[in-house]
Amino acid sequence: MTTGASIVVRGGRVLQGDDLVDADVLIEDGIITAIGAFDAPEGVAVEDATGLIVLPGMIDPHVHVGWPGAADDFATGSRAAIAGGVTTFIEFAVQFPGERLEDVVQTWKDWGARSACDFALHAIVSDSTPATLEAMGRVVEAGVTSFKMFMTSQHSGGLGVDDGTLFEIMQRVAELGGLSMAHCENDEVIGHLAEKLIADGVVTSAGHSAARPPLVEAEAIARAVRLADAAGSAFYIPHLSSGDGLQAALLDTGRRVPVIAETCPQFLALTADVYSRPDGAHYVMSPPIKSAQDQVELWEGIMDGRLSTVGSDHCPYPRDFKDENAHTDFRRIPNGVPGVETLLPVMFTLGVRSGRLTIGDLARICSLNPARIFGLDDRKGSVSLGKDGDLVLFDPDRRFGTAPSDLNSDIDYSIYEDLELWGMPVATIASGSVVAREQRIVDDAHRGRFLARTPGVVLDDFDRRVVRA
Ligand code: URP
Ligand code: ZN
Ligand code: ZN
Repeated sequence: MTTGASIVVRGGRVLQGDDLVDADVLIEDGIITAIGAFDAPEGVAVEDATGLIVLPGMIDPHVHVGWPGAADDFATGSRAAIAGGVTTFIEFAVQFPGERLEDVVQTWKDWGARSACDFALHAIVSDSTPATLEAMGRVVEAGVTSFKMFMTSQHSGGLGVDDGTLFEIMQRVAELGGLSMAHCENDEVIGHLAEKLIADGVVTSAGHSAARPPLVEAEAIARAVRLADAAGSAFYIPHLSSGDGLQAALLDTGRRVPVIAETCPQFLALTADVYSRPDGAHYVMSPPIKSAQDQVELWEGIMDGRLSTVGSDHCPYPRDFKDENAHTDFRRIPNGVPGVETLLPVMFTLGVRSGRLTIGDLARICSLNPARIFGLDDRKGSVSLGKDGDLVLFDPDRRFGTAPSDLNSDIDYSIYEDLELWGMPVATIASGSVVAREQRIVDDAHRGRFLARTPGVVLDDFDRRVVRA
């Protein structure tokens, strides 16, 4: 367990709110203790940041580094994270049918001992038995305060719950002051469309996309928002992929609960055309990437603040596994893509370099907002006194390598190889230690900590601010 190191970051332009300010940053025992001009204590390591932007460490609120069969575990997934400037991620502990929820959470916490970055956990709940509802209380006490339910079983290995179960779990989350999340896709419509497509001979990844039109997402979102509101539970929509879905999420029905939505870099960078490629299986995830028009609407949501966060939904599978059923039955292609390592350069390239966002907007979307929404902002989310010494020394004018050989994820392909990505995390600092330089890990011994969260974080005043007038 790392307690925290001391370092002075000299000569950088430090992001303070929306401004880049010439300042040094002092981190002592892992905590930021001075920003500006100061006399550094004797003997403290110095890191030169001349010509670089000093950003807070990115927070990826949505990764899978323990999902059975997926390529990355906590060790490799977290190395990918820090190489890309992500110093904290939130992983999902999955309750497979019949498992005891608190055992699952403990198992995932134990696996996290191998994490090179700080991590928190969401729990995926797959039943509403009295034992599970009771266990949710103990899970909250253990620092896991957000709960995801699947509204579909199609890609989740049978984890889907019916609406009654979803509602019951949401009611319990409300009682506990936590945050409900749901994978919003209409299970029956997907099943019906998929069967028809297969019967018509559409067996490749194009079928995966065709079986999940925006309606599938929008209908489920509308339903889940209504249920969360009736249950009195704050609600977070992960991996929102379509313009229709965004409209459904934020349709004002006079609801009482906060509804917060996340999208993913792949929806902002790629279009459904990828599913017609010979390697379309490599892009199979749920919900799938949608049309160019959906992409425009998602960017609008990011720019005007209706979408509050970007989570990578990092869940890569090896090429062989992806390809196994790629030309026989799209329903059997494992769902998920890599993304934690490229989150920052994708958002920088397509957000900031393209003029859609300022660097302050990027840090808000990829660090401050997830910190606030998930109850981590006492120690994460900005370069501020008293916060953890997690920094990215960032060169906006250098290319970020996207070939598999450039990346640290345990995966043998890249979904961004055809894209020119910009913005290099020249150094990633976690709790005061330099852990990665220029896409390479330089401190193999560094370990992150489990971040226990407390329930009842005030989400009602969550600032869904307009980031661009
Ligand atoms: O296809 C995906 N997104 N796989 C990961 C599991 C999930 O639904 O987030
Ligand atoms: Zn999901
Ligand atoms: Zn996911």
